[in-house]
Amino acid sequence: MRYISGLPRPKAGKGPRVLAVLGSTGSIGRSVLEVVRLQPQRFRIAALAGGRNMELLAAQAAEFKPARLCAQDEQSAERLRRLLPRGVRPTVLVGSEGCGEAARSAEVDMVVSAQSGAAGLHGTYAAACSGKIIALANKESLVLAGRHIREACARSGASVLPVDSEHNAVFQCLAGSDGRAFPTEGRGYLRRLILTASGGPFFGRPKEETDKARPDQALKHPTWNMGAKVSIDSATLMNKGLELIEAHHLFGLPMADLEVVVHRESVVHSLAEFTDGSLLAQLGVPDMRIPISYCLGFPERLNSGAPALDLVALGSLHFSPPDRLAFPCLDLARSAGEKDGGYPVVLNAANEVAVDAFLAGGIPFGAIPRIVEHCLDAYGAGRTDACDAFSCAPDTIEAVPALDAAARVRARREVELFTC
Ligand SMILES: NC(=O)c1ccc[n+]([C@@H]2O[C@H](COP(=O)([O-])OP(=O)(O)OC[C@H]3O[C@@H](n4cnc5c(N)ncnc54)[C@H](OP(=O)(O)O)[C@@H]3O)[C@@H](O)[C@H]2O)c1
Repeated sequence: MRYISGLPRPKAGKGPRVLAVLGSTGSIGRSVLEVVRLQPQRFRIAALAGGRNMELLAAQAAEFKPARLCAQDEQSAERLRRLLPRGVRPTVLVGSEGCGEAARSAEVDMVVSAQSGAAGLHGTYAAACSGKIIALANKESLVLAGRHIREACARSGASVLPVDSEHNAVFQCLAGSDGRAFPTEGRGYLRRLILTASGGPFFGRPKEETDKARPDQALKHPTWNMGAKVSIDSATLMNKGLELIEAHHLFGLPMADLEVVVHRESVVHSLAEFTDGSLLAQLGVPDMRIPISYCLGFPERLNSGAPALDLVALGSLHFSPPDRLAFPCLDLARSAGEKDGGYPVVLNAANEVAVDAFLAGGIPFGAIPRIVEHCLDAYGAGRTDACDAFSCAPDTIEAVPALDAAARVRARREVELFTC
């Protein structure tokens, strides 16, 4: 094991931890602000970035008074300026460049990367290059550019703390109760990691039925309350596939040492298995405020606002293997992670395009894995019909968006073939 970064250095001097929250209007971002509200003396918000929900971003700005705000595009930024109350006049930044500027800002100690999809990469990478503590929810950043983020952390001294509940659970299992025992180098007695998956809303249902599922059915997650993209990814199990690649980059372990087990209750958030057969797990109610508060307070533990887990009321826990035939995205992601190079970028881009099309009612649920598979096959066969960038391996961080864009062109063509 070689963890992606060192651990956060203690802050010089006292004073609150200064945060930039990228994706503050989303499900994770709102939970971050809930945890901050519970201990306002510990944190100061220097920057908030939303996408297009400017009403909420303006309300957050009025409450937390950050020096910088960021919106997804110029039109949203214009609307935001009009919505800001009298007396609240932060600098309004725009787009991925704006997120990068907010993340790099000298006063910021910690960047919470909580945008959805590939859009989150720019802010994460800017934070990694400028020595920040990164509370990382945006798993796509590691899927697209895990190696580049690792190298950037090594250069700048940035550190990554995983917000994703499974990775946060593993981190806690390896770190001891106060976080300080975490081994950043050397495998020690670790044998493998077991990531738990809820199985999503279609667990145990026949493939013929789920292939025709509607967006409202796929969005109904049994245990977690999340944004739309990650909810659909949970229904296809692509979310778990992306998390395998995320774990591979985060913990520096081969894909073969990462296992997935379905656990319907979503109470055991993941496990570390050791050479003597011992398993360590982290348990808690399925509430993202727990891993979020762990990262925000690290190495101290904060009041997350989440209720305690009542084991007696819960009664029993269940585990089963994932149905890899009914949910082919899991194997597609594992294979892309094993091949590495540009495969994870193509996997992610094709998946984002397919999920958008599904949510818009354009394609059936069962088309999502097929579109992803066709794009991966085309990339593997070196078919450059989308554009030359489609055949490249992203050896530099600059090559990642080019391959991402080319894979999206290819995926949109595939979507047209499936359009209902
Ligand atoms: N939700 C969970 O429980 C959970 C758990 C583990 C990991 N994660 C990961 O955390 C990330 C966020 O998930 P989420 O559920 O919080 O998503 P979400 O509710 O959809 O929120 C996404 C956030 O990103 C912003 N955004 C979306 N596209 C953008 C773009 N192109 N440019 C700038 N901003 C953009 C959205 O802005 P607007 O809403 O203002 O448009 C919103 O603030 C994802 O990578 C997800 O996989 C989520």
